[in-house]
This record gives sequence, structure tokens and C-alpha cells, in this order.
Amino acid sequence: MCGIVGYCGNRDAAGILVEGLKRLEYRGYDSSGISVGFENNLTLIKKKGKINNLKAAVPSDMPGNYGIGHTRWATHGEVNDINAHPHMDASGKLAIVHNGIIENYMSIRNKLIKEGVEFTSETDSEVIVHLISKYYEGDLEKALKTALKHLKGTYGIVAVHANEPCRLVGARNGSPLVLGIGDGEMFLASDVTAMIAYTKQVVYMEDGDIVVVDKDGFRTTDLRDNELDKEISTVGWDIGEIEKDGYPTFMEKEIFEQPESVLRGMKGRLDFEQGTAKLGGLNMSSRELRMVNRVIILAAGTSSYAAMVCAYLLEKVARIPASAELSSEIRYKNPIVEPGTLYFVVSQSGETADTLYAMRELKRKGATVLGICNVVGSTIPRESDGGVYIHSGPEIAVASTKAFTSQLTAMYLFTLIMARMRDMSTQQGQMIVESLAKVPEQIATVLEQNMNIKTIADKYAHCHSFFFLGRGLTYPIALEGALKLKEISYIHAEGYTAGELKHGPIALINEETPSVFLVPDDGLREKIISNMKEVKARKGPIIAVAVEGDTEVADIADDTIFIPKANELMYPFLMVVALQMYAHHTAVKLDRNVDQPRNLAKSVTVE
Ligand code: F6R
Repeated sequence: MCGIVGYCGNRDAAGILVEGLKRLEYRGYDSSGISVGFENNLTLIKKKGKINNLKAAVPSDMPGNYGIGHTRWATHGEVNDINAHPHMDASGKLAIVHNGIIENYMSIRNKLIKEGVEFTSETDSEVIVHLISKYYEGDLEKALKTALKHLKGTYGIVAVHANEPCRLVGARNGSPLVLGIGDGEMFLASDVTAMIAYTKQVVYMEDGDIVVVDKDGFRTTDLRDNELDKEISTVGWDIGEIEKDGYPTFMEKEIFEQPESVLRGMKGRLDFEQGTAKLGGLNMSSRELRMVNRVIILAAGTSSYAAMVCAYLLEKVARIPASAELSSEIRYKNPIVEPGTLYFVVSQSGETADTLYAMRELKRKGATVLGICNVVGSTIPRESDGGVYIHSGPEIAVASTKAFTSQLTAMYLFTLIMARMRDMSTQQGQMIVESLAKVPEQIATVLEQNMNIKTIADKYAHCHSFFFLGRGLTYPIALEGALKLKEISYIHAEGYTAGELKHGPIALINEETPSVFLVPDDGLREKIISNMKEVKARKGPIIAVAVEGDTEVADIADDTIFIPKANELMYPFLMVVALQMYAHHTAVKLDRNVDQPRNLAKSVTVE
């Protein structure tokens, strides 16, 4: 979603701001803009469309050593130059960028209009600049704090005033804001990717924080002017991790990184001898874990399918009642929080509004909530009672791939811990640990199928509708395969449990509607083969994802993607990688913008 970058220092701000915005592109946006300060003047440039439009409008020798920039993902008002941020007041001396939503903007807008303020855009954000302007008496920090007292909603805001050159003032409430500390220069941004080329020293702002930055230092206070002591953290990854590294798309790069990212998620956490795992951050004693009698996992989108796999697994392997819930639903269900129930929230970004607000609602009711997140320092891990970082490294493509397999990794380890605390034997535990340790290598084997998968994907890329069918542990993988295909190729795809096909969806099967069947060699294989035959009888093309050597399945299917033989619990990892590659090749064939699909955002910070 929207991205913010702010800079003050000794270099030319325009280039740094545009480059920072380019790095934030992955979040999803539809317009962008910068405001650059040179001595006591601000210049404003805003453009609809891609950052390259903005870049073309910014003079290469634009003077100015401070400023703010923004990528907008439209919520209030259409996509055009005027609605893009930054927004300026009538004096042209004050500019702001804003992420989030101001819920009471209409009443503030009407009041300001009555006072004679002229609005230029349709956005909710514009009220912020006019409010600050109203209260400005030579102190931007003070004016911002006064303005904030009138706002209801969520915000990450950065403001500059030409009368206070080379100073940025930021505020956070519900939308992320990070301070970057450089050598004689400072940054404020919605995430560290915008500044990682210049500094790894960062301070994560919390809700309610106000930060005042000039090139040599920063000061943080709360809204009541109390000074706050903030911890400086070091970012644990390098700029190289957000480069494409020779791959044509970030998504392909991230798919191919999975042998390493899954391995990283297990490193130091597997106990081969005891047949269990160690997860340091759970913040729960063995006694407390033993008292858990139900697990509920909440998440959105791809993360919700990882949650579903894990709920299946917890019941199957650890024999604990478990379920996965959509964050956007549970929040408004007035959930019943019972003693003994442990909640997990799963989120790559750690900022997804639906998941964050659901988590807050559960905590309000007394629940213990653990987080499974990727982005270090993001809001969900900071507000949860404990949890696990999945360490998959920055995920830049909008469509989630490596984070999914790393989420599975973390939840498999948790399941193992719970199972071994209950009735799983050491031998059984050891067998699972050994099987898990083989997964990275087995994913690498699936990746070797790349050209075969491309051939199959190209063959069916003209089709308008697909089914993805699995059962048991691979049912959520079918849902994820369908989601991946639809979001990046824009082909309609439905994920179903194969057993449900005959209860309605089979009416849609014809020669032009391929079905992708996931066929592990577990107890459900025979049932799935029967479902394949039902489709075959109706002349539906079949693409099977089957276990190496399964000629019976390959004979029924029109095309087959083979995955290596593995412990049956590990097939979700291997099958999902095949489906990620399938979706990617289809989108490339159809010439889609794979990394930034239309209408989508990486970090969905609105409900
Ligand atoms: C799909 C995708 C989304 C996210 C969802 C939740 O490829 O990426 O469905 O999974 O928006 O995001 P996180 O995991 O950041 O909470």
C-alpha cells in the first residue's frame, strides 16, 4: 500500500527520494510525488502512474537537501496527479505525506471550508495539511501535535515546513514509520527498504510517537510532549536481498530462494536427538504449552492457507483441536476466548490491518496471541505475546511465495514441539525431524522441473478458468495454487477440495476448463484418482502434481508435474512450489506485470 520516504542531509534530496520510492514500489501504488526543500522554498512534483513518470518530471539538477516522497494506493478519490501526495497548504510552505485513513475527514473538511480553506484534492489526507497550517505559528512539531488531537483514524505522517529547513516531523498511529540514522543524514520511511542503501541503523516508531529529525539527530516524544527513549536496531539483511540478482522478476527469484529460506527457518531449531524442535520466542513455559487444549490460527490471503495447513497438521500430528480463521471475519464475530486456547496470527508483513485488528480484539478479551511474521520490527510481532520470526528474507514480489513455505516451516516446528509434549514417541519425532531436514533439498528437486512446468503452463495459458483440487493437507495448497494463478495472471481459478467437486462445481467442467489435481501418495490417493476420473469422463483437461513414479496418475492426466517422494506430511511444501512456478510461467506468457499485479498491494494496511 502507500509508501513514505523522507530525507534530510547534505545530498540532493530529489534523487534519494525518487530512488527510495522506487524501492517502495513493491508495496503497490498508482501515483507518486515528492516535495523538495531548497533553503526556504518547497517544490512539489506529483504524477499519476509509475515512478518513471515522476522521474521524468524531476529535473536532474533539482536543488534541495531535504524533502518527502510518497507512493499512493488510492482509497479516497480517483487516481490522478492532484490526489497524489504530498499535499501542500495554501502558502506553499508546508507539505505532508500520509499513509492510513482519516475517518473523520469529512467533518474536518467541511469545517475548514467554512473557515475559508480551499481544497484541491478529493483525499482524506489533505485535511491534515490544512489543519497543521491552521495551527502553525513557527513550530511545526507543535502544530502537528495540535492537529493530531483532532484526527480520528490511522496515520503515518511526515511533514516539512520551508521556514524550518532540513527538518522532518513524523507521527505514527497504526501505519508504520521507521527512522533511519545515517552519517550526517536522516531518513523517515514506511519501511526500511527505502533507506537500506544508506543505513542499517533504524528506530521503529510506535503508535503515539512523534519524531523530529534534522540531519544530525532526532528526538521522540508522545503527544503530551513526554520525551521517549527509543532503541536503535540494526537491520539484519543487505541491499542485495532486494535486488533481482539476474532474475527477470522478484517473484521468480523468491520462488528459487526457497531451498535456502526454508533451511534458514529451521536452522538451530531442529533437535535430531530428542526428535523435537526449539522455538525461543514463544515466551511460554513447557507447563503453559502443555495446558493448551485448542489452537486457533488467524491470517489473511496466502498466510491464511498456511494457517489452514497448520491447523490440519496440529490435529493430525499433535492431536490438538485446531482451526484456521480469516482475520477479517473473526474480528467481527465477537469471538469467544476460552481459557486453554492459544491463538496464532500469521502475517508476512506483520502489518496487515485485518490481522492486526483481529489480534487486538482477541488480546482485549484476554487471549494469548503469538505471531508468526517475517518483517522484523513490524507491528504484529511487537504487539503479540511472543512468536516466531520466519527469517525468509525480504519478500518484494506482491504475490507471496517464500514467506508461505517459511510460515509452514515455523508451524511445523511448533506442531512437533506440541506433539512431543503429548503422546508422540521419540522415534516418531526423530522421523519427522529428519523428514523436515530433507525438505530444502526436495524443493530444489521440484525447482528442476522448471522447464517442464513452463511447457505445461504455456499450453493452457489461453484458458479462461481453472480448478485446483486437493484433499486433506493439500486442500489448502489447492486454494493457494488458485490464488497465485488468479492474482498474477488474472485467470479465473477456483480452489476446491476434490471431494466437493461432484456437489456442484463439476457442472463447469468442459474441454476448456483444466483441473490441476494434487495427488500425494497418502491415504487419500485412491479417492483423488476417482475424482480425476470424474473430470476425465467429462472431457476436462487434467494437470496432475504427482509423486515421482506414479504412472497410474500420469496415465490419467494430460500433463504431469512430478515431485520427489517424501514423508507424506511434507507434500504441502513441494506441491506449493510447483504451483507457484506454474502461476509465474502463465503470467509471464500472458505478459502480465508479475511483481506488481493490478489492484494489489504488498502490505494491506486498510481494512
Ligand atoms: C497473496 C498475498 C496476500 C497476503 C495477504 C496477507 O500472494 O500475498 O494474500 O498473503 O495480504 O498478508 P500478510 O501475510 O502480510 O499478512
